Parts: sequence; C-alpha cells; structure tokens
Amino acid sequence: MAHKGASLHPGRLGVGIVGLHEGLTLLKALSHTVPDALSTSRPARDGEATRCQFAFAAAGCDQDEGKCTRAREVAPGTPTTTSFDELLQREDVAVVAIYTPDASHGELIERAMRAGKHVICTKPLVVTVAEAGRIRRVAEETGMRLQVGQSTRFFPPFAQQRAAFERGELGALDLIDTHYIHRMDWFYEKSPWAKDTTDWIFLGMSHPLDLLTWYGGRAETVTATSTQSALSRSFGAAGADIYSVNVEFADGRIGRALGHYGLVELPSARNAIECMLYGDKGTSQAQYHDMRYRQTGLSGEEVLVDRLYAGRGPYFNNEVHGMHYGEFAAYTDHFAQAILEGTPNQPDLTSGLETFALMEAARRSALRGQSVRVDEVWAEMAAS
Ligand SMILES: NC(=O)c1ccc[n+]([C@@H]2O[C@H](COP(=O)([O-])OP(=O)(O)OC[C@H]3O[C@@H](n4cnc5c(N)ncnc54)[C@H](O)[C@@H]3O)[C@@H](O)[C@H]2O)c1
Repeated sequence: MAHKGASLHPGRLGVGIVGLHEGLTLLKALSHTVPDALSTSRPARDGEATRCQFAFAAAGCDQDEGKCTRAREVAPGTPTTTSFDELLQREDVAVVAIYTPDASHGELIERAMRAGKHVICTKPLVVTVAEAGRIRRVAEETGMRLQVGQSTRFFPPFAQQRAAFERGELGALDLIDTHYIHRMDWFYEKSPWAKDTTDWIFLGMSHPLDLLTWYGGRAETVTATSTQSALSRSFGAAGADIYSVNVEFADGRIGRALGHYGLVELPSARNAIECMLYGDKGTSQAQYHDMRYRQTGLSGEEVLVDRLYAGRGPYFNNEVHGMHYGEFAAYTDHFAQAILEGTPNQPDLTSGLETFALMEAARRSALRGQSVRVDEVWAEMAAS
C-alpha cells in the first residue's frame, strides 16, 4: 500500500534522499519550494528554478542518527531512517537521490535500481571503471532511469548559456574553456573521506569536465598535468588537487579545464566556476556563484544578465553560505517530469558515463605524463 504521503502529493513522485549533509539541501529545497507553499508568491522569473511541480520529499536516510534528527528539524513531518534498506522498502519512494561519499555511489545506485527505484546520483557519478561498467549493466537489466545531479548545468547563467548556444547565437564553437577553483580545507575537515577515497579529478573536476562533454560531446584524447597544493599536503591527502586538462574532441574542436582546490582565496573578479564558449558568431561567459551571464556577438555589444538579487532566495535560500538549493530542486523536478511524461532527461546515464570516461582518462594522463585516448576507458567499461 502506498504511504499516505503520496496521496498528499497527487501527480508527483516521492523522492527518498540518502546522505543528509548535501542531501539536506535537496530535502529543504523540496520542502520549501512545493507549489502549494508558493502559490501566493510571485511567479518564477525566466531562468529561475522551476517550482517543484513533479516531486516531493518522501523520506530521508542517513546512517548518522544526528543527521536524521537535523533533517526532521528542517523538514518537519518528513520520515527518516538510518537504514538504506528501509528507505528502499518505502512504496512512496519512486526516486532515490544519493548524496553519500563518492566511493559509495556505485553500490547504492545498484541497490536502488534492483529495488525498482529510479535514481538521482550527485556528481561524481562513479569513480572507478568497475562501478561504471556495473551501473551500465544494472540499468539495462532493471530498466530503471538515472539522472546525474550535475548542479552546474542547472544554475541559471549556465542554463542561459546553453539556450543561447542551442539557438545558434554563438555559432559553431571553436573553443570551450572551463574551470572550477575552490579552497577546500573546510571540506577535508567536514568529510575526511575526501582525503583518502577520492581524487579531485572526480570530486571537483566533475563540474568543468562535465561542461566540456556537454558542449564537445564524446572526448577523443586528453592530456592532463597535476600536482598537489601545500594545503592538500597539510591535510595528508593522497591525490592531486590541482589539475590542468586539455581535451580534443572527435571533430577536431578543443577544450580545456582547470581545477585548484588548495588555493588561498580567489580574487573577486574570478568566479569559482566559469564556462567560456568561443563560437564563430559570439562569445559567452557563465559564472557560479555570482549568477552572472555575459554574451557578445558580431556587433561587439556585450549583454550582461545579473540575477543575484532575484535568485538569492531560491538558489541560496537567502543564506550567506547557502549552496545549490535551486539547482537541486530544478534537476529533481526535471527528472520527475521526464519519468512521469516519458520524455528524455539530461544528464542521463550515458552522458554521466561520458563525463566519467573523460575524468578517468585525465587522471591516467596526469599519472603517465602522456596523452590518453578516452576509448581506452570505454573499452575497459565494456569489458568489466
Ligand atoms: N554541487 C554538487 O552537486 C555537490 C556539492 C557538494 C557535494 N556533492 C557530492 O555529494 C556527496 C556527499 O557530499 P557531502 O559533502 O554531503 O559529504 P558528507 O561527508 O558531508 O556527508 C555524507 C553523508 O552520507 C552519510 N552516509 C554515508 N554512507 C551512507 C550509507 N551507506 N547510508 C546512509 N548514509 C550514509 C554520512 O553519514 C554523511 O552524513 C559527494 O559525492 C559529493 O561529491 C555534490
């Protein structure tokens, strides 16, 4: 029998969220942006997070009881459990949203799909070839769908940039230039697993490398260099936290991505995440987290769209250090709508694996000190 929560939200899919640190952001976003609660507020502006019309928070799960208690405080009435199996048994959970440490994603995706649930998995989707091959097989066997929680694609300046690209305003792209730069001492302190069980090519570079595959498609060859910052060494972290990655796509276009997770601080002129698209009709720049978008065309005029004041409510929850509320709500709603209406979702499993293959090839290239063909990773995924 369906849990009574489902009947309170007719026409919407219940989301069960596992990992209630970053996952708490989604829980709050879903709890605070349901249409009923917002029916009296102003309509969404162009580029703003869509209201959650297709999803509701059915339950939360964290193996740490303290995180469950906190979740019940911020979203009163939402049931929580410390057992992932219990979450999977809930009939009102149609979609499981995974926000646990990177190295656990593959296993939890498989368990959720085998329990008949569709899956949202935060970035990075997976961090090993074996897991990538495994989730591909499990998705085929179960027919369950997957959405990669690639938040940057759903941040308004990046969505606007994509729309301009799809309308042809930038013309054919010659060069894609991306970066994600963020001082991460607070992350090592909060999440010690980041020192041991992941590499920043996955944890941080998943954002700029995903942007490269979004525009360039499947990468052909990657040439990467890496090193470790003093900050990373001071935490005893195992892997590199500075990466410079050059990519060649099958059609000859090129892209580059830069990541630095041990810097002192960014000057305010540079944003943590940026994507520059250089096309033969125009150039554009999307920024996180200033919420700025700039575009120039053949006339030479620059258009600037700044949404920070309009968007700070839904995107940052009006918190000084708030992050990702609007993006998480937007991709969850997008996925739930796609499932309900039988339409495609993006980024889906194939797109997530494209980004994974690029990340893994970049990691290998930096270690070997030579270029790596991304096909090498695809072949291993197929064989695993
Ligand atoms: N922009 C983004 O989309 C974004 C931003 C930050 C983090 N992330 C990703 O989100 C994930 C989580 O990051 P975080 O910062 O919240 O990490 P965190 O260490 O703060 O929290 C992880 C939580 O998962 C819980 N957990 C671990 N294994 C579990 C299991 N098997 N069952 C139930 N609970 C379990 C832990 O108790 C912990 O509360 C990572 O993959 C990270 O890369 C994405």
